[in-house]
Amino acid sequence: MAKIFKDPSRTFSEYLLIPRLTRKGQRPERVDLSTPLSAIEQNQLPRFKVNIPVVSACMQSVSGTRLSVALARQGGLGFIYCSQPIKEQVDMVRQVKAHKAGFVTSDSNITEETTLREVISLMERTGHSTVPVTSDGSANGKLKGLITDQDFWEFEDNLDNKVKQHMTPVKDVIYGEDGISLREANNLLHRHKKDCLPILDRSGNLVALVFKKDYVDHRRHPLELLDDSKRLCVGAAVNTYDFVDRVPALISAGADVLCFDSSDGFNEYQMEGLQWIRKHFGNEIVLGGGNVISAEGFDYLVNNELVDFVKVGIGGGSICITREQKGIGRGQASALLDIVERRDAWFNETGRYIPICSDGGLAIDTQIIIALAMGADFVMMGRYFAMTDESPTPKTTINGQMYKPYWGEGTRRARNWQRYNEGVESRKMMFEEGVDAYVPLVGPLSEVLESTLDKLRSTMVNVGSDSLSEFREQAILTMVSEQSVIEAGTSNVFQFSPNRILEPPEWGNPG
Ligand code: IMP
Repeated sequence: MAKIFKDPSRTFSEYLLIPRLTRKGQRPERVDLSTPLSAIEQNQLPRFKVNIPVVSACMQSVSGTRLSVALARQGGLGFIYCSQPIKEQVDMVRQVKAHKAGFVTSDSNITEETTLREVISLMERTGHSTVPVTSDGSANGKLKGLITDQDFWEFEDNLDNKVKQHMTPVKDVIYGEDGISLREANNLLHRHKKDCLPILDRSGNLVALVFKKDYVDHRRHPLELLDDSKRLCVGAAVNTYDFVDRVPALISAGADVLCFDSSDGFNEYQMEGLQWIRKHFGNEIVLGGGNVISAEGFDYLVNNELVDFVKVGIGGGSICITREQKGIGRGQASALLDIVERRDAWFNETGRYIPICSDGGLAIDTQIIIALAMGADFVMMGRYFAMTDESPTPKTTINGQMYKPYWGEGTRRARNWQRYNEGVESRKMMFEEGVDAYVPLVGPLSEVLESTLDKLRSTMVNVGSDSLSEFREQAILTMVSEQSVIEAGTSNVFQFSPNRILEPPEWGNPG
């Protein structure tokens, strides 16, 4: 007869944390958010850590180059998706590794003949207020000038005017020479009171741009995740079909961490892949497995000490319809608690600590906090990052609001059949397990993340913890009734928002 778990499947929103003693001198800014991604043997130091417990999902609509750079600059790790040809994934990994902190390849360029109307639309689309003008409109063409949103008045100037009538011509542009250090570039920006410094080679071709805002951002976020050669770190997803070709290519491109991207990692195909990678690349590469949602699945993956970390979660993703389509999955809190308990027991028995990643379904900051309190070492998120400026999809206006497209890997659009059909290539995409949707645009990744991490640090202080490992050990959680979930928001008060006044039926507690 089928076995049935005694407890129902629980989600993060059903739990709250109980404050514990906060000691004098404990302050959010002193909290350490670094966390391991590699297995830890007998209390040795981990081989790989991230500086914040956040990684981005291996998804086309999430982890592109720009997002992976932005996230590593904040101390987290992007996982470049594998639902693309090997060469393209490798190029993306290379681009992140080649990213010279502070030197940005211009991603919106125009020629002198571009009209103001086109410039305005480009600025709206990209959010950039300074655009380089090059001979051929490419990122490395000969620099002809710079145009900023201060160089024209949208409602006064003729929008059919050409850029050359409004730009600052190259002879008046302050620029740096290729090869100067970031410090020298920032000094030039400072000395000349500029926001943007083009870097030119000897022939006057544009090489990169340096922005004052990036300097300010770096000073505010000193947690950049760098490898031994001071390059940004990046992760890459792999699948069970072409790992023999994909893995060596990714490793030689410099990927710091690899992770199997599978909707159900409790299978022999993934085990074969793990064995092959360890056999050919040893323990140097950091290697993640998953996804699983039971202690049994966890045991299977960790048993022969191949994986560094295990990803937990099936069916919880915001774009996921796996539970509806196939009837498999588990509430993320229940899955995580089950696996964390087994991980801790495993550590006590073997002395080997396996970091756990909670993947999917984290819609709000409190869920991230609860996942970490319950024992996740780090979280993986898709929707959260898809909403930021840096995700790879274009900004789109719908009814006056800004959105970004966000689609699951199990959609016909992504065609990532390798994630869903372990070992059965002929089945390819029989049905979808994800949806194609839009998410609201929320702004720069750094700002969104800063707010989330501020809340996390503050909660950790409430629980008397200076580090994430202390947080896990000290956390006491309580389950909440449905009524207390309702009352967790405001109750019996009027809220005036700039756009609307809440009508009585939306007040929440009917009292
Ligand atoms: P989110 O953070 O809630 O948006 O969930 C992201 C996670 O959903 C990813 O890291 C994957 O584990 C999972 N996922 C991605 N695409 C799909 C899909 O099409 N169907 C089901 N799950 C998906």
